[in-house]
Amino acid sequence: MIPIKSDRDLKIMREACAIAATVLDELCQIAKEGITTLEIDRAGKEIMSKYSCRSACYHYKAGRLRYPGYLCISVNDEVIHGIGSDRALKSGDIVSMDVSVIYKGFVGDNTRTVLIGDVNAETRKLVEATDIALQKGIEQARAGNRVGDISSAIQSYVESCGYGIVEEFTGHGVGRSMHEEPQIPNYGRAGTGPILRAGMTLAIEPMITMGSPEIFVGDDGWTVYTSDGKPSCHIEHTVLVTNGNPEILTIPMQNK
Ligand code: MF3
Ligand code: CO
Repeated sequence: MIPIKSDRDLKIMREACAIAATVLDELCQIAKEGITTLEIDRAGKEIMSKYSCRSACYHYKAGRLRYPGYLCISVNDEVIHGIGSDRALKSGDIVSMDVSVIYKGFVGDNTRTVLIGDVNAETRKLVEATDIALQKGIEQARAGNRVGDISSAIQSYVESCGYGIVEEFTGHGVGRSMHEEPQIPNYGRAGTGPILRAGMTLAIEPMITMGSPEIFVGDDGWTVYTSDGKPSCHIEHTVLVTNGNPEILTIPMQNK
């Protein structure tokens, strides 16, 4: 069952998502050369408490493991689920920050990849393409369409650029919990999968690699790396399906 949010749910969901985007926005401003990813993580914790929300990632359970950070911070060949550490960001890095917060019982989920200092043109193109792939996916998040329409739009665009699509992780419904039905793969066939209805809230999140889409999970049990060591990019929004145009919910408060 894919949850349909009531108007009352949506009122809180909009707030949760605007807060998630505002927290992420503030973190993007401090992600500069020299800062460590642990400092970013701790800043995330502080900013979340400033906005009266808490991390949906902190102590998130996967099997016997609990996620130790307040957000996911993944640098270069780290695809997703990177944990803050004493690693200092340096010029040429790209860093994805995945911020999921819980506010009044609802989750807002979003990710951006930021450029640190001078990033080479090849890597900048990867980030731009991931952003466009996300927009192509969002464009399909319409009542009456199917999940496969989102997946296929992302896949066609990414493949036209010659990049890889990570298949082991997907977008997802989001609301009372961080991961609800449906799963939203970043590859698939148009016209297949569950039908989208107004009131569904979806986290759409392409994870795109410059080289091979093959990945592995590191020794910490969380961090996902590209097998070939080449960069990857991850960008995510939470989107509301309506009877009209898709509505991106993860827009920072000051931009509304
Ligand atoms: N926010 C991520 C997502 O987009 C998941 C975070 S995994 C966690 O689905 F372990 F950090 F919580
Ligand atoms: Co997500």
